[in-house]
Order: sequence, then C-alpha cells, then structure tokens
Amino acid sequence: MLLIKNGRVVDPSTQTDATLDVLVEGDRIAAVGPGLEAPSAEIVDASGLVVAPGFIDIHCHLREPGDESSETIESGTRAAARGGFTTVCCMPNTHPVNDNASVTRFVVDRAAAVGAVRVWPIGAVSAGSRGESLAEIAAMKEAGIVAISDDGHPVASAKLLRQAMEYCQALDLPVIDHCEDPSLFAGAVMREGPSSVRLGLRGMPAATESICVARDVQVAELTGGRLHIAHLSAAESLMLVRQAKRRGLHVTCEVTPHHFTLTDEEVTYDSRFKVNPPIASRQDRDLLLEGLADGSVDAIATDHAPHEPARKDVEFDLAPFGMIGFETALSLALEQLYHSGRVTLPRLVELFTSGPARVLGITRRLAPGEPADLTLFSLDHPWTFRTVESASLSQNSPFDGRSFRGAPVLTVVAGQIAFRR
Ligand code: DOR
Ligand code: ZN
Repeated sequence: MLLIKNGRVVDPSTQTDATLDVLVEGDRIAAVGPGLEAPSAEIVDASGLVVAPGFIDIHCHLREPGDESSETIESGTRAAARGGFTTVCCMPNTHPVNDNASVTRFVVDRAAAVGAVRVWPIGAVSAGSRGESLAEIAAMKEAGIVAISDDGHPVASAKLLRQAMEYCQALDLPVIDHCEDPSLFAGAVMREGPSSVRLGLRGMPAATESICVARDVQVAELTGGRLHIAHLSAAESLMLVRQAKRRGLHVTCEVTPHHFTLTDEEVTYDSRFKVNPPIASRQDRDLLLEGLADGSVDAIATDHAPHEPARKDVEFDLAPFGMIGFETALSLALEQLYHSGRVTLPRLVELFTSGPARVLGITRRLAPGEPADLTLFSLDHPWTFRTVESASLSQNSPFDGRSFRGAPVLTVVAGQIAFRR
C-alpha cells in the first residue's frame, strides 16, 4: 500500500486541481480525497509536488529486437520511468519489423519480463513497412498492438492508407502516419531555409510534411477512419489538422519537445540536431506552441530515437535521423509551455495523459478502481540533464548540459515505484 499525501492532484479528465491524498492498494487506486489514512501504507510526502495520472508517450523507439546496442526494452523503459512515463508505445521499425503477431508477442513478453513501465507496441501498416501490402494487422491486434504505423517512412500511397484505414475501422485502431513526400525529402538532412543555405546542408521544405498531411486528411474523410499525425512540425500541417477537426473528422496530432523548443537557427553541424522531421523555422515553432496552447495539438510525444555513438557520431550528412527524448520531455514542456505562461498546469498535464489516451481511444483517470499509474513531478526543482547519467544506452541528445526548472520525482506503475528522484 502506498499513501501519497498532500500533493496537488491535477487530473484534466475529471477537472480536478486540488490538494488531495491518493491511496494505492495493490495495482489499483483505492481512494482519492482529503485527509486519507492507512496505518500500514508507505507514506509519500507529496507536498509541493504535482500528482498526475501516469504519463503516456505514444511515440518512441525501443530498438529491440535487432539494435540492442542502441537501446533495449529494459534500458529504454528505465529512461522512460526517469522521464515520468508509465506507458510508452513503441514504433515497429525494429529488426525484424513488428509486422506480425510473433514480433508483437516478443515485445509484449520482453516488456513484461524486464520493462520498468508498460509497453504498448505499435504494429506496421505494411509487411516489412515496405509500403506494398498490408501487415498482419488483426493478428497483431490480438497480440496487443494499440495502433499501426510505418514510422520512419510515410504510408506509401493513398491507396494503401485507404486500405489500412478501412481495415482498422473494424478493429478500432488509429493509423499513425509519419508524413513526408519522398520526392521533396530526397537527400535532404535539415529544414530548407536561410539556415540550410548558411550551413551548406541540403534542405527539405516544410511542404515535404504538409503535402502528405493534406493527402492523409482526405483519405480520413473518404474512409471515416482514425488518423493520427506523428511528430507534426510545420504550421501548414497544423492548419490542415485544425480544419479537419472543425469538419468533425477523426484526425489527431502530436508534437515533440524538440520541435516545440528548437529552431533551425540553432542547428549546427553537430549530428545530435539531425532529426526527421527536421527542426522547424522560428515562425513554425511559434505556431506549434500556439497549437499546444489552444487545444489543436492532442499530445506531446517524444519520438525517443536512440542511436549508438558509433553510428551517430559522424558527419551530419551521414548520421541517422533521431534524438533521445524521454528524460527531458517534461522539463522542456515546463520550460516552453508552463514557465513561459503559455499554458495552464491542467492543459500541460492533459498533453501527457488524457490527450494521448484520447488518440488511442482509451481513458486515463486518477480515480478509485483505475490502474495505479501515477506521475509525481516538481515545478521548480533545478537540475541539469547530462546524457552520461541517462538510463538510455544512447547519448544522442542536443539537450546535454541544459539546465531546467522542474522534473519528474516519482513514477508509479501498477502500484510499484518505477523511479524515484
Ligand atoms: O528522427 C527520426 N528517427 N525520425 C523517424 O521518423 C525515425 C526515427 C528513428 O527510428 O530513428
Ligand atoms: Zn517518424
């Protein structure tokens, strides 16, 4: 038993924002209220801390099976717990690709054996994510996937997306697309603009993403299916999502901490800044922040993408795309959204909890009977992120050495403490 006393309980799904206690019994929440007592419980003094429903990350790469020198399910979930996440959804671009039930079962079983947090796999849209024919979606759903995506690549054609969306309607799964027009992407390594010209690096325009978002929204309308746009990075894409929502389509989107924090002016030849989609222009970044504040963005997702030093520490042109993100996500959100006064605390919590839950079609509530997944964090605790102290096996973060105000303090998964600062 765990009794969390005197925290500021913030749960956007029940519109709670009050100083309360939370009692955990076994793997469930037993009670939420003022002045709770439980003589045999371990007491956690949460005064001065925020107590939120467990954070969900709907977009990460755990690299197992196949690239265990970059990350494993064990190391990745430990990093996730340190970041306050109690559930992470891992993308299928492993080796082999998670395009059939045996790979899904491997991930689920491995996570049950060694995972520090819950792992909900995302299956591939197409066999091998090759964009030709559909993967074994129903069998993967049976084995535990919560969505499908060919992440790393866009769904290859409107026809394939249409098939996937029609198929997924019966299974009630969202289709997550990494939006990118291959002809505009070709050979580029960063966002096209004055910064790419200054650095002499090949750039891709923002339209690389938004052209694909426009296609996808139309297919969502054609099929009535659930479409989720991964790592949205362009203002034009956000406008398309806003319009789609206004028209009542089932379209949602996520934004990553690196896209709402960095601008292409800050990109250097350091390959830690190389990520796909690339870091946006200042104007686009500012509009992403607006979208996070006004409700048009549904979730913050990390796109935690570890790459071992041997492959990442090379020239910008040659390095793989991606950066790690679990351990800095909340602190960057506090910096950019909360301390800057752009969003309220309940809205910030929503972006990590009920927002991603809604994308997946589930609820996440801090209420009696619900699973005891909790994220406790400080709004003020000063700390400095150092990749050498990270639980990840990879170090590819442009935020190494950055100082923050506020951090995850206690992560509880199914009633067990997964991380304590
Ligand atoms: O930067 C990225 N890294 N973007 C992706 O779409 C894939 C990811 C990865 O798997 O490394
Ligand atoms: Zn992607």
